Amino acid sequence: MKILLFGATGQLGTECRKVFQQAGWELLAPSRNQVDFSKPETVALAVERLRPQLVVNACAYTAVDRAESEPQLAGLVNGVSVGRLASACAALRIPTIHISTDYVFDGRAARPYRETSAVCPLNKYGHSKLQGEQLLRLYNRRHILLRTSWVFSAHGNNFVKTMIRLGEQRSELSVVGDQVGCPSYAGDLAVIIGHLVERYQRDWQLPWGTYHCSNAEPCSWYDFAQAVMAQAVVCGLLEQQPQLHEITSAEYPFVAARPAYSVLDCSKLETLLETPIPSWRRGLERVCADLAGAVRAAAQEVTRGGERPVTVK
Ligand SMILES: NC(=O)c1ccc[n+]([C@@H]2O[C@H](COP(=O)([O-])OP(=O)(O)OC[C@H]3O[C@@H](n4cnc5c(N)ncnc54)[C@H](OP(=O)(O)O)[C@@H]3O)[C@@H](O)[C@H]2O)c1
Repeated sequence: MKILLFGATGQLGTECRKVFQQAGWELLAPSRNQVDFSKPETVALAVERLRPQLVVNACAYTAVDRAESEPQLAGLVNGVSVGRLASACAALRIPTIHISTDYVFDGRAARPYRETSAVCPLNKYGHSKLQGEQLLRLYNRRHILLRTSWVFSAHGNNFVKTMIRLGEQRSELSVVGDQVGCPSYAGDLAVIIGHLVERYQRDWQLPWGTYHCSNAEPCSWYDFAQAVMAQAVVCGLLEQQPQLHEITSAEYPFVAARPAYSVLDCSKLETLLETPIPSWRRGLERVCADLAGAVRAAAQEVTRGGERPVTVK
């Protein structure tokens, strides 16, 4: 199986690389220098030149607040280029697995969002991702569109790493408690994508369409922060938990508006996979263990005379 993976250096892309390499699939993973999603023509050219059997697009402009002042760039990367990717794939009959977001919803629902729920993004990032969804559906029927939420991993920038870093620096922290969603471990998402690829490899068909894909156990950012701090102490990343104060979104200087409730109903995907998606807690344990391992390795490096700082980066 020859897979073209975009966004291979990101949180999800990094985990996808591990899963695909373990499965022994041929992996083509161009860097941003080779294929720049702010230049849509480079995306189509890459597909035409590399002729993969499947495309997985984990590339995105993910800076939610910055997108408010860079809507054009976000629109090119998350919208226009996804359209070009989809039409290039369709012309060569290549299926596309693409990732989208819970931020296509406005958060006014009182129960988990289904794939058929009405979309209404509150911010520019959400609008750009919605444009990508629409163009993907328009141009390539053979697509799997996975909407996920609150992604974290040991790699890149995310809430878990930010909380641990702040926990090292401060004894008290304020965290928003009125936004509820589902944290999603990039490692679990990559395994799910791997199952879909395996299934496609078996019969060259997938039940195309949109699926929601996040870890189970909805919580607020405040609840999640509490779990992060507790696990960081267990793993020795923090000596003690900082005191957490629950605040409202109005009290935090977000640039972009965010949905108050963006829990995704993942039962359609669970039925397809014939297995429930686990809670984010196991992924959190894994990430804290990986970060603690990296800190230990850096400490050993320092005692051997290296100069790396012993902290979560
Ligand atoms: N992070 C979340 O909380 C979250 C929540 C819901 C949905 N999602 C979706 O999940 C998917 C994966 O997210 P993630 O957290 O893994 O993202 P990420 O860590 O921010 O990684 C984004 C990837 O896209 C690449 N990229 C960005 N702009 C590019 C450009 N102009 N040209 C080429 N490559 C570019 C980055 O390359 P560089 O390494 O060179 O920057 C990186 O490999 C995305 O579709 C995202 O919208 C994420």
